[in-house]
Amino acid sequence: MTDRYAVIGNPVGHSKSPLIHEAFARQTGQDIAYSRLLAPLDDFTATARRFFAEGGAGINITVPFKQEAWRLVDVREGGAVTAEAVNTIRRDGNRLIGHNTDGLGLVADLERNLGIRIAGSSVLLMGAGGASNGVVQPLLERAPRQLVIVNRTPDKAEALVKRFASLSPTLRATGYAALNDERFDLVINATSTGLDGALPPLPGTLFAPGALAYDMMYGRITAFLAFAQARSVRAVDGLGMLVEQAAEAFLIWRGVRPQTAPVIAQLRAEP
Ligand code: ATR
Repeated sequence: MTDRYAVIGNPVGHSKSPLIHEAFARQTGQDIAYSRLLAPLDDFTATARRFFAEGGAGINITVPFKQEAWRLVDVREGGAVTAEAVNTIRRDGNRLIGHNTDGLGLVADLERNLGIRIAGSSVLLMGAGGASNGVVQPLLERAPRQLVIVNRTPDKAEALVKRFASLSPTLRATGYAALNDERFDLVINATSTGLDGALPPLPGTLFAPGALAYDMMYGRITAFLAFAQARSVRAVDGLGMLVEQAAEAFLIWRGVRPQTAPVIAQLRAEP
């Protein structure tokens, strides 16, 4: 019988996850069906439970339900233990097992696809919401020289740092106004500014020579990427992260990690 999977979000119509998982399934010879499920903003839990009650084998969770998904699951594994956000659920009998593959996806894209060495680098993570939550631990595990979290509301960055402080002394929080004297090898945008065209108040001196500007959003040149490009800084969107986090989810569900490069190339070639 064909195992059924879905991505649940709101909105979800734009999601590329079905395309990606169908490509993975073809490549690995797995028999799966993967659909999009729109959940009402106040009804994620019921939507997910219905899907599983009807035999669904697993789901991906996207904006804005990752924290609710974290609360829904019976067991949390891997990145989901510290992230307090779940983007992948596998059903094991009646139990729901929650994972967070976003951080692994980001690190895989940076290191394997883009050739970035995080170890020893100076890294700035912008934003302290759900998106940055999921990537702090995997970034710290790569041993950057420093990981600085900057947020418009400084208290939220401080709270995030507190949660992960025991993992590394190189983690600290700051405000945008304090960035004037700092240089970073890698600047990651995990704010939601890509959605509304806003640009966090960054100084133009932010980037060290050879730096990479990375936006977790995909499919558009965000104001942040344009800001970097205007300073001749290499700027990359989050499409590779999307495909890599999907490959980690596919591995959790199917026990095989697909090749990501052809799928990234396929998506880049599409309008
Ligand atoms: P997500 O789950 O996508 O992270 P979120 O939890 O709402 O969404 O977090 C959005 C992040 O983008 C927050 O860090 C937010 O900053 P605040 O905590 O100060 O709200 C950040 N953000 C949104 N708009 C911003 C802007 N115009 N400038 C700087 N940061 C912004």
